Amino acid sequence: MKEATFFDNKVVIITGASSGIGKNLAIRFAQLNAKVALAARDDKKLLDIENLIKSSGHDALTIKADISVEKDVANLINTTFIKWGKIDIFISNAGQYIQGRIEDIDLVQFHNSFAVNFFGSLYAVKQILPIMSKQGSGHIVFINSLDSKKGIVGDAPYVAAKSALDGFGDVLRQELRDLRIKVSTVYPGRVDTPMIDNIKVPWISPKISTEKVVSAIINGIEKEKPIIIVPKISYLIGALNNLSPKLMDWFYKKFRLEGTRKS
Ligand SMILES: NC(=O)c1ccc[n+]([C@@H]2O[C@H](COP(=O)([O-])OP(=O)(O)OC[C@H]3O[C@@H](n4cnc5c(N)ncnc54)[C@H](OP(=O)(O)O)[C@@H]3O)[C@@H](O)[C@H]2O)c1
Repeated sequence: MKEATFFDNKVVIITGASSGIGKNLAIRFAQLNAKVALAARDDKKLLDIENLIKSSGHDALTIKADISVEKDVANLINTTFIKWGKIDIFISNAGQYIQGRIEDIDLVQFHNSFAVNFFGSLYAVKQILPIMSKQGSGHIVFINSLDSKKGIVGDAPYVAAKSALDGFGDVLRQELRDLRIKVSTVYPGRVDTPMIDNIKVPWISPKISTEKVVSAIINGIEKEKPIIIVPKISYLIGALNNLSPKLMDWFYKKFRLEGTRKS
């Protein structure tokens, strides 16, 4: 018999479920008896994960979606709602690490970064709000980045879009409180996923495991935490940057927090 958990029969949508944090979250939610809708562009990878989940006796659904395309996002939300009749948790996790120094960068890269790292979440929220409002419950979780608390040199397109998402999540949390819809934002440091496979990080900011991030997210949802920073020591970064941005600029430069590209 399955052991009862907080997530029993909860319907959870995860974008970017084909890889890294999203994939690991999907598997963990399923193990906790949630019904999981898996979204990303690569539906072959999603089907493998769906099959893995189903083979352990849990429920999953694959929906191919490019989150920068509004109608794909609408289809994702509608298909999930039609299948299971409710949406309890929406995890906006899909993202792309779009980098470039300002003097080199093409404006298209900024547009692309905002399309995936910001507008995808906005489309989803607009689609999901009527459903969660009617339910009188729901939890929206944004997977942001520590980079929105302190920008890294060379990352302006990514940092700008994640910072927009940071502000959006902060306002949304306050606006939706009376509707009993919860909003959490997650700020991981460097995580060991394919996204940063080609980056060698300095010893002072080692890559953390997806398992650690997933555990922090699951715990944060259960405890209804508005802000989830992982690793915990990184709570200091935003505060120190507000206190002394020059000191933090020096620190980031000194320890080469941007990392180096593996050849
Ligand atoms: N890794 C880190 O160091 C780190 C640190 C802080 C925050 N984060 C954030 O964590 C989240 C997950 O990243 P990850 O590290 O797990 O990276 P990852 O392994 O590269 O996974 C990214 C996921 O996003 C999906 N995706 C990308 N563009 C998409 C689009 N247009 N539409 C739908 N899905 C799309 C990818 O699937 P398809 O390619 O199949 O579409 C993939 O499933 C991102 O929001 C990232 O910014 C990562």
